[in-house]
Amino acid sequence: MAIERMKTNIKGFDELIEGGIPRNYHVMICGLPGTGKTILALEALYRGAVEFSEPALFVAIGEDSEKVIKDQASKFGWDLENTKNFKLYVISVTKTPFDIISDIQDQAKKINAKRIAIDSLTALSINSVYFSRGMVVNLMKTMGDAASDSLNERASNSVIQRFIYLVISGLQSLDSNVFYITDLSISGSSLDGISEYVGDGLILLKSVPLGKDVQRTIQVVKLRSTNISGGIFDIDFTSNGMIVSSE
Ligand SMILES: Nc1ncnc2c1ncn2[C@@H]1O[C@H](COP(=O)(O)OP(=O)(O)OP(=O)(O)O)[C@@H](O)[C@H]1O
Ligand SMILES: [Mg+2]
Repeated sequence: MAIERMKTNIKGFDELIEGGIPRNYHVMICGLPGTGKTILALEALYRGAVEFSEPALFVAIGEDSEKVIKDQASKFGWDLENTKNFKLYVISVTKTPFDIISDIQDQAKKINAKRIAIDSLTALSINSVYFSRGMVVNLMKTMGDAASDSLNERASNSVIQRFIYLVISGLQSLDSNVFYITDLSISGSSLDGISEYVGDGLILLKSVPLGKDVQRTIQVVKLRSTNISGGIFDIDFTSNGMIVSSE
């Protein structure tokens, strides 16, 4: 039986992945800052909402990200506030700590989200102590010294990794495709040290200076159950979204 796939409807992209991402697969979108991670996830969710009537939940971590997302969308002529089936959900990092996993699950179930984006795992890991107070304390009990830094402002790496792992597995129970945005450092690895290794798919975005311009590229590094075109393809941002070039 053919695998059911979720079309992104991003120009030139679905052709690289047998027509779409298998339903309910979780895909990491990785890249250095400014490479187009937010645009890719936003467009896949926006087109899903508008062109397929599939409820979309865009989870932005941190108060300041709301304006960033809305401004980016309006550059493409997308009015998120008045788009049916699209919900921008901003998670505060300054109020009382709470259980972020069940919060996202609740939001997703409320709208029956078929497409979810988490922007970003980097912001989550930076704030992991705050988001997982109880969880970190429990981890300290089981992980001992490895977790002992975790009551400081920034949790130790092993605790951050475990937290990110729990977030990802916690959202696997949802009937949704999930995109996780994660920042890479200049060395090429993620800041949390785990997110590029988990998930069903991995998309890598890059921008390389080309004379006075910049050449932007996309590569589907991995997508389970899919015969991918795994090479490096040029991308452009136009006035209404991104285009992947087929040459
Ligand atoms: N309409 C457009 N036309 C051309 N370039 C654009 C357009 N909109 C955005 N860009 C460029 O695309 C870049 C990447 O956008 P995006 O915010 O998706 O990257 P990101 O990887 O999420 O970055 P960050 O790490 O800062 O969150 C922007 O910094 C901007 O330079
Ligand atoms: Mg971004």
